[in-house]
Amino acid sequence: MTHPTLDIDLFTDEALAEPFEGYRQIREAGPAVFLERYGVWAIGRYEPLRAALADWETFSSAQGIGLSQASNRTTKGLIIATDPPEHDRLRGVLADKLSPRALRGMGGWIREQAEAHVERVLAQGGFDAVTALAAPFPVQIVLDLVGLPQEMRPKVLGWAEAAFNAGGPPVPRTFEAQPLLEEQFAMLAEIDSDALAEGSFGRAIYDAAAEGKIDRDSCVPLMSAYVTAGLDTTINAVSAAIQLFAEHPEQWDAIRADQSLMGGAFNEIVRHQSPVSWFSRVTTRDADVDGVVIPAGSRVMMMYASGNRDERKWDDPERFDVHRNPVDHLAFGYAVHGCAGQGLARLEAISLLQALSTRVARFEIGTPVPRLNNRIRGLASLPTVAVRA
Ligand code: HEM
Repeated sequence: MTHPTLDIDLFTDEALAEPFEGYRQIREAGPAVFLERYGVWAIGRYEPLRAALADWETFSSAQGIGLSQASNRTTKGLIIATDPPEHDRLRGVLADKLSPRALRGMGGWIREQAEAHVERVLAQGGFDAVTALAAPFPVQIVLDLVGLPQEMRPKVLGWAEAAFNAGGPPVPRTFEAQPLLEEQFAMLAEIDSDALAEGSFGRAIYDAAAEGKIDRDSCVPLMSAYVTAGLDTTINAVSAAIQLFAEHPEQWDAIRADQSLMGGAFNEIVRHQSPVSWFSRVTTRDADVDGVVIPAGSRVMMMYASGNRDERKWDDPERFDVHRNPVDHLAFGYAVHGCAGQGLARLEAISLLQALSTRVARFEIGTPVPRLNNRIRGLASLPTVAVRA
C-alpha cells in the first residue's frame, strides 16, 4: 500500500533553527507522512493532529514520547509518558496546586515578582532578553513552587535542555544529552523529602506517595516533570514575545493601548512560535488518519508547531497579529496530556509583558542567536535595548 513519504531531515542545525519550510512540506505531503530518514511518522496538519491527540487509546504515550529508546527508558513513568488510568492518578497529585483557584491565589505574588524583575532588568540599560529577562523568572517562580533545594537550582536549566534533546532521533545532539538526563533522575532521587518546603509541589508529591495515592517510585519522575517542563518552555515564549514585538512595533503599541488584548496576544505568541515543536506517540492499532493508514506499532510525531501554522486552519498563518486570539492553538498540546502548567506559564508571561508595557515604548534588538534543541525551539541570546516610555 502506498502512503505519503518524505526524505527530509528535521534535525540539522539549519532545520532546527528554521523549521517552518520542513513543516510546510510535511503538511503538503499528506495528513500523515512517513519520514524515511528516521523511520517515523509525522502528523502536521491541524485537524488530524488535534484528533490524534484526543485519541490516546490509539496514539499511546506509554512507550515514551521521544524518538530515542534510551531516553524513553529513562523517562518511564513520567506523567507525560503514561496513559490513563495511571496518567490520571499522577496528574491528580498537583491538580489542586495548578487549578484556576490556586493560580488566582498566587497571581498577586507573581505580578509583584514580575514588576521587581522588570525594574531590575531595565535598570541595566541594554540587556539580553533571554539570559537576563526571560530565563531567571520561571527559574525562580517554578523552583520556589516546586520547593527544589537551593543547591540543585544551578543545574536545572542544563537538565531541562538535555531532557528535551535526549528524546531526539539517533544524532549526536541526542546521545550527548542522555548522560545529563540520567544525572537529573539520579540527583532528584537523593532529595530528602522531609526538607521540601511545606505547601510546595514537591512536598505534595511525597505526601501523595505516603498516603498511598501514588507509588513511591513515581515521586522522582513527577518531580522531574514539573522541574523540566516549566522552564525552557516559558523562557522560549517570553523571549519570542520580545523578538516579535521588536519586529512588529505596531503590535506592541496595540497591546500597550489596550491591556485587554494581553491574553489573546499570549495565545498568538505561542501559536506563532510554538515553544515545544513536537512530542511523539506509538500507535496501539492501525490508525486511519484522514485516509492514510498508520500501521499498529508505529512511532508518530505530533507536530504542534506545524499544526499552529497550518494554512488549512489559520488565515495567513505566518502573520503575527495580537487581534487574532487563536484560543484553539496546539502549543500546549490537547486533551489528556494538554499542558498541566499552561495557566502558570500564561500568568508568568503576561505578568512580565504587563510590567514591560507600562515602562517600554519600543524594543530594539540585535541579532538573535537560536538555541538548537531537538524538541523545543527558542533563542540562546537576544541583545535588546528598551526605549523607555
Ligand atoms: C509556554 C510554556 C509551555 C508550553 C509551550 C508547554 C507545552 C506543553 C505541551 C505541548 C505539552 C503536551 C505534551 C503531550 O502532548 O504529550 C505539555 C505538557 C505538560 N506540561 Fe507544559 N508547557 C509550558 C509550560 C509548562 C509549565 C510552566 C509547567 C509546570 C510548571 C508545565 C508542565 C507540564 C506537564 C506536567 C505536562 C504533562 C501533562 C500530562 O502529561 O498530563 N508546562 N506542555
